[in-house]
Amino acid sequence: MDNFALMIHPLDARRDVARRYPLLAQLLPQVLIRALARRWPPLLLSHVQGVRSQETGEGAEGWLLACPLTAGQMLQLPPQAVYDKIVQTGRLAQRQGARLLGLSAFTSLVGDGGVTIAQRLNMPVTNGNTLTVGLAVEALRRAAEERGLALDGATAAVVGGSGSVGLASAEMLAPMVEKLILVGRQEIRLSQARAETEAAGTAEVRVSKDIEEVSEADVVLSATSAPEPVLYPPHLKKGAIVCDVALPPDVAPEVREQRADVSVINGVVVDVPGPVDFGFDFGLPPGRAYPSMAEAMVLALEGRYESYSLGQRVYGEKVREMMQLAHKHGFRLSAEAPSPARQDG
Ligand SMILES: NC(=O)c1ccc[n+]([C@@H]2O[C@H](COP(=O)([O-])OP(=O)(O)OC[C@H]3O[C@@H](n4cnc5c(N)ncnc54)[C@H](OP(=O)(O)O)[C@@H]3O)[C@@H](O)[C@H]2O)c1
Repeated sequence: MDNFALMIHPLDARRDVARRYPLLAQLLPQVLIRALARRWPPLLLSHVQGVRSQETGEGAEGWLLACPLTAGQMLQLPPQAVYDKIVQTGRLAQRQGARLLGLSAFTSLVGDGGVTIAQRLNMPVTNGNTLTVGLAVEALRRAAEERGLALDGATAAVVGGSGSVGLASAEMLAPMVEKLILVGRQEIRLSQARAETEAAGTAEVRVSKDIEEVSEADVVLSATSAPEPVLYPPHLKKGAIVCDVALPPDVAPEVREQRADVSVINGVVVDVPGPVDFGFDFGLPPGRAYPSMAEAMVLALEGRYESYSLGQRVYGEKVREMMQLAHKHGFRLSAEAPSPARQDG
């Protein structure tokens, strides 16, 4: 049977550790949980069963693995220490006989977007960014349609617009919208992103290091690597539509509490085809997964054991191909994305 392995990690130390060790999470202070996480060995969480292609009727099985570092730790620890932990976790996948490893959340953005991990493990690795971009843009487009917002006259902002997911999303949005604002932190990366986004479409493109500029946008796609929220109620235009792709989320809970006029797509979530049982509660309702996880499942069902999304660049033609493969096998955007609790990194 075709197979895959999926690597996840705790986004919120206490909440996510409690999924596996409820008593420990209840008794220990947060700071101690984080310190322990660093020393904890990687875990084989479960055997994933029941993924089945709608097109071919063929199934695939997988394994869910936990790399015991939080998002904050992945940003703060020396890259080598983070790579070592991810590679150690990947070895568990190899011991199970996995033919492809899917990275998700911060395991996919640490360092070079999976290149070093694939080399050190000597196995196909996919960082999931291709399907993430396709589904995030589809989610925004669908929400705009539902709200009767014509994208061709709209201003869009991409927060984290110089990053892997953000830049490719901006390129996909460039032919659809009138104006694009790319927000990031580093000038050089932003000006390069502007050039690439201008080449991808007709939109007028502006870049900024000031998050306040998001308040001009009718639609916002947020995909930063910040371990804390970056978007608060004053940052958003009246009636804005926001798609928050980041894990942990970029949109602060106050936005939902104080801005009833704003529509927030809180995390892009996918319905997985077949009677899927992940064997572990990683925070989504049964049968649902994040796009980065879904990408590895799509590739396994397709029998394509290759490092499909690797490195930081996401390419438009691959986004279109991956979306077509995902649809073919029956992966669909979930109608209603759940609202995750606040993470603390
Ligand atoms: N839902 C899913 O399945 C899924 C899949 C893949 C990725 N993701 C999530 O998507 C996010 C982005 O991933 P990526 O691979 O694109 O990361 P990346 O390549 O490292 O890009 C991160 C971007 O965020 C910007 N940034 C970081 N901190 C910021 C801040 N405080 N304010 C404004 N911009 C900031 C960076 O700007 P500078 O470069 O200028 O610093 C960069 O443009 C992550 O949260 C990741 O977990 C989710």
